[in-house]
Amino acid sequence: MNKLVIKGRKKLYGTVEISGAKNAALPAMAAAILTSEDVHLHGVPHLADVTTMVDLLEKMGIKTMGYKGGHENNLIKSSITLNTSGMNTYEAPYELVKTMRASVLVLGPLVARYGKAKVSLPGGCAIGSRPIDLHIKGLAALGANVSIDHGYVNVTAKRLKGAKIVFDTPTVTGTENIMMAGTLAKGITVIENAAKEPEITSLAEQLTKMGAVIHGAGTDIIEIQGIDRLHGCSMDIIPDRIEAGTYIIAAAAAGGEVEVTNCNPRHLDALLFKMKEAGIEYTETDNSVVVKREREAWLKSVTIKTMPYPNFPTDLQAQFMVLMTQGDSTSIITETIFENRFMHVAELRRMGADITVENNVAIVKGRTRLTGAQIMATDLRASASLVIAGLMADNVTELSRIYHLDRGYEVMEKKLSKIGAKIERVKV
Ligand code: EPU
Repeated sequence: MNKLVIKGRKKLYGTVEISGAKNAALPAMAAAILTSEDVHLHGVPHLADVTTMVDLLEKMGIKTMGYKGGHENNLIKSSITLNTSGMNTYEAPYELVKTMRASVLVLGPLVARYGKAKVSLPGGCAIGSRPIDLHIKGLAALGANVSIDHGYVNVTAKRLKGAKIVFDTPTVTGTENIMMAGTLAKGITVIENAAKEPEITSLAEQLTKMGAVIHGAGTDIIEIQGIDRLHGCSMDIIPDRIEAGTYIIAAAAAGGEVEVTNCNPRHLDALLFKMKEAGIEYTETDNSVVVKREREAWLKSVTIKTMPYPNFPTDLQAQFMVLMTQGDSTSIITETIFENRFMHVAELRRMGADITVENNVAIVKGRTRLTGAQIMATDLRASASLVIAGLMADNVTELSRIYHLDRGYEVMEKKLSKIGAKIERVKV
């Protein structure tokens, strides 16, 4: 087990380069199941979740070549080549799905190409109950037979048939699963109330390179014309907008001047708009954002509400909440995506934050000077918010259970040290 030891109140100066997006890499890897030819992915981040997806695909007999994995191999831009010709099982077992819910992304491609899939139901997780009923209903609408047995969902189909699917709520991995399934179905699949995240557009671009016919990705109606077979492709993973947003917030919280490069500021509009409202200075180019803050005056307290893209992302809610402890009055933060995504609040309170929670609303009082403490990471994005809190706080913060952080942030402590943070990974 490792922990991070952070000596706070150091301003940050320099450049942080953003890695490939975890939530684009995972579906991109699952999409390889749709073809017998090689799928080459470039700019894959070194993350525990990517390693879990590699393990899952290898367990099915898929060859994965080139990915080095592991924390020690960090900051080497990685490529991975996937080939399914030796595939021999069509199952995602509980041991892997319980460590990473995104394992469910193999469901759509398995049924579409092989007509069978057995995937463990993920169950609840730290941030909410997170059902996959919409994935399952979508596949059933495409003609698949679905049964649930001993905690597994078994799906079979001769060949999926295109149909119209209207999601009750936009679901990111649900849209990805049905989009992948639709590529090899007979006829046209239409997804209404589809998720519009950049990761969806990126997956559609990859599937198009593989020969699929898809229109409307990035809007709330996606149309997929099914074809008989897909071929291999070479694809660059888009930059991680949540990692970029996390460093933008960290720079604003700690103060100094930081350039966040290899990002797409257009994927961060909702955050940047709120940053401006809070009085934070920044400039942007096509692929970078420079954030500058003297840290002399309090910020303006602003209100945020998490919503599906292009609105404010739930994956930046915890980080922005920490920033709002530096507001001049009271900030109201409403979480509408996941019902239990305020686990960081109890830890922040231990550092002196004045935050109260009523149902899905957090009321954050500003003008707070945080103090270092021993704290615990509870989930991936909460962990990142606690690192930011440690950077701002007086004295030393010790953050344990950082395996959550390693799931989604490539060597965060190295990237932060490079811009002047006093942060160290220590074995315990
Ligand atoms: N939902 C259902 N039924 C379903 C699917 C979703 O009710 O079958 C509900 C969820 O409970 C939630 C809402 O729909 O209230 C949206 O969830 P969504 O399905 O969009 O989430 P997801 O696909 O499981 C992805 C990201 C998450 C991110 C969310 C929201 C990946 C691999 N994961 O999850 O990323 O928070 O979209 O943007 O893309 C993270 O990276 O830390 C992370 C949690």
